Amino acid sequence: MTYTETDIVTTVEQLTGASLSALPRTQWEDIDQFHAGGSEAIERLIPHLALTAGATALDVGSGLGGPARQIARATGCNVVGVDITTAYVEAAQALSDAAGLAERTRFFRSDIGALGHTGFDAAYTVHVQMNIEDKKVFYSEIARRLRPGARLAIFEVCRGADGELALPLPWSLDGTDSHLVTADELRDTVQSSGFTLLDWADESTWARQWFDDLGRRLAAGTAPATLPALLTDGPARMLNFAVATATGAVTLHRGAFTVTA
Ligand SMILES: C[S@@+](CC[C@H](N)C(=O)[O-])C[C@H]1O[C@@H](n2cnc3c(N)ncnc32)[C@H](O)[C@@H]1O
Repeated sequence: MTYTETDIVTTVEQLTGASLSALPRTQWEDIDQFHAGGSEAIERLIPHLALTAGATALDVGSGLGGPARQIARATGCNVVGVDITTAYVEAAQALSDAAGLAERTRFFRSDIGALGHTGFDAAYTVHVQMNIEDKKVFYSEIARRLRPGARLAIFEVCRGADGELALPLPWSLDGTDSHLVTADELRDTVQSSGFTLLDWADESTWARQWFDDLGRRLAAGTAPATLPALLTDGPARMLNFAVATATGAVTLHRGAFTVTA
């Protein structure tokens, strides 16, 4: 059990000394993007989602909702986020309320297999499948909820060829809920789950630079609240992720797909 944090909003408000509604916009990305690469990673997904104003996207494993709010703002679309961690769903909704995006970004505690809605115009999932043992079921359930021609974009952590993987990691404290596969295995699994490949890219190089920059900012201590400060064992988890990315123990891959007709 990795995602054990509770009452995240209170923690954020204690660390910053400000209510959510008074939190400067520059502070948000340090908190609500729970993946390598921050908002730049999401920026790289957006063109592949082919979203237009008024469309509705599905965010599977929506975490604290940073990607959902960024995509809603950038495209004018609506986002439905599902996640199995109650405290994250509550924090994501509270953050969206404070951001004035309560109507356009909605979050539900649900496994993808239990979600009743279908017909989404696009879906994306960011740093989630590392926790999913049966990835074929996971992606097939996403495919079933998309309209014909809809896109799927992913940004994911894969097992690399080199280097030791030290624990804890952002997605696993003790390794029991970590189910990494290689990039080739992941791409092939998505394709065999009802999707046709449009684009596939190794994003590890720029992500390494992002980790270096993050390390410098954390060391400077200029941000009062950061994601590592909110997470159980957060600094060690982020450091091990940065080292694994630097050594090649993990790779970061972005993929774009469309539902197979
Ligand atoms: C590393 S966080 C990424 C959150 C978000 N996608 C982001 O990038 O900011 C992983 C998220 O996946 C969620 N998760 C793990 N297994 C899941 C599952 N079977 N269904 C839905 N969400 C899941 C966790 O609760 C957590 O919020």
